[in-house]
Amino acid sequence: MSTTLQLGVLASGRGSNFAAILDAISQNKLDAKVKVLISNKQKAGALEIAAKHNIPAVFVSQKKFSDPASFDGEVSRTFEEYEVDFVVLAGYLRLLSQKFVRRYKNRILNIHPALLPSFGGQGMYGHHVQEAVLGRGCKVSGVTVHLVDELFDHGPIVKQRCVPVLETDSADSLAARVLVQEHQVFAEALQLFAENRVEIENHRAIILPGKEKN
Ligand code: GRF
Repeated sequence: MSTTLQLGVLASGRGSNFAAILDAISQNKLDAKVKVLISNKQKAGALEIAAKHNIPAVFVSQKKFSDPASFDGEVSRTFEEYEVDFVVLAGYLRLLSQKFVRRYKNRILNIHPALLPSFGGQGMYGHHVQEAVLGRGCKVSGVTVHLVDELFDHGPIVKQRCVPVLETDSADSLAARVLVQEHQVFAEALQLFAENRVEIENHRAIILPGKEKN
């Protein structure tokens, strides 16, 4: 039995992962509804994608809040207004405050374009990640979907997928190969939560077996 996740999405940029989640929902691969999308960037493509799908799209200006906790307080209030029960970070470039993380404990999922715990942490976003992977001469890289705690890229890992790193790769070509996997794996990870198949033991996300489909 799955329960429909009531999603609140946070995004700072173009929103291709957000769009992939919407696709998975419309293709009945993900039992979820996006209740609201919030961006901290007024020009984020994600805001336009939400508007096109008639999903409430809210820009919260960082300038209006004196500290990160009060900014997150506004996000939290908006999520409560829309009755969000699960939070998705789809390219969101802010660290969440302790109060927010506790409010949605084990109900916040992030996607990172490398195999954590390598190539994560503060400053590891966008092209910085792929340049570091190439600079270290990795032969494989990939994507990680993980629960969010108070540290950057740190909570329990829910799903990972590998891609090869080619000798001819640039940061852009590697990012593009990783992104194809991101667009599949994020919705798959969310569906595990819809099916109540994730248990947290210490720092591990244990994935329970699914029901066989007839
Ligand atoms: C993705 O590469 C994701 O892994 C990272 O930020 C990027 C967001 O891309 N967290 P998009 O806005 O979803 O297109």
